[in-house]
Amino acid sequence: MITLKLIWGNCIEVMKDISDKSIDLIVTDPPYGLNYNRSDLAMNREKIFGGRISKMKPNPIKYGDNEKESYELLENMLHEAKRILKKGAICAVTVVGGGGGPNPLFAKWALLLDKIIGFKQAIVWDKGGLGMGMQYRRSYEFVLLSQNGNPSHRWNGGNSTSNLWKIPKIIPSKYDHPTQKPIALMERIISLHSNKGDIILDPFLGSGTTMLAALNLERNCVGIEIDKKYIDMTKKRLNWNSTLNPEEIKFEYEEYSQFLEI
Ligand SMILES: C[S@@+](CC[C@H](N)C(=O)[O-])C[C@H]1O[C@@H](n2cnc3c(N)ncnc32)[C@H](O)[C@@H]1O
Repeated sequence: MITLKLIWGNCIEVMKDISDKSIDLIVTDPPYGLNYNRSDLAMNREKIFGGRISKMKPNPIKYGDNEKESYELLENMLHEAKRILKKGAICAVTVVGGGGGPNPLFAKWALLLDKIIGFKQAIVWDKGGLGMGMQYRRSYEFVLLSQNGNPSHRWNGGNSTSNLWKIPKIIPSKYDHPTQKPIALMERIISLHSNKGDIILDPFLGSGTTMLAALNLERNCVGIEIDKKYIDMTKKRLNWNSTLNPEEIKFEYEEYSQFLEI
């Protein structure tokens, strides 16, 4: 039996209720805080041509989309992560690559992971194509790995796993999450750093990519998301509670009261 637990709430509050040393792996894609929804190409094109922003981008990230907010969010999340991860377990965090001018976000995040949990490795995710930017255009992101002490809790990669991964990025439609990650990326992390039946947590679940990857690989998953519209997207992608799913999947959904009171 695989249990998928989807929680609508603020991960910082929800994680406080997760027991110490109970999680086998955290895989997450936090908001980068780079105001993508106000400065990306679609938005700029729209400003120039005078279209309506809400029509072009119906699903902007509402929470954590400025740098100070997202840094504090990550910091608070990592403190809880350290407590709830099993000894030697991994917390994997994606982050934008490149420099961003005088603001090397990936370096700041790597140092934060190192301070709170302990840095292990930076994987370069070559996502193909050219992204935003001038002069150097972005074509990779990092997956920053931190490990909660030694020895490794799980490692299924032997001695010949490269830290450069080529996986095509997702170009989201206006019906998708604006920063949806490829399922294959989450699957690679999960298969290397957990075993069947383990518990995976994604505190910034978005549209449920980590949960889909965990299900494909027969892992249990807890996913937390603050924005109700992404909760609904996740349910749709997973055919939540539908009889089309095999009986061995247990779906649990919770609306976290402390968040709902805000
Ligand atoms: C970069 S997106 C994740 C996208 C995801 N990887 C996917 O493939 O759909 C980060 C998500 O974190 C959510 N978020 C921001 N602050 C949060 C918080 N305090 N607790 C839980 N979720 C939060 C945002 O609403 C957003 O959907």
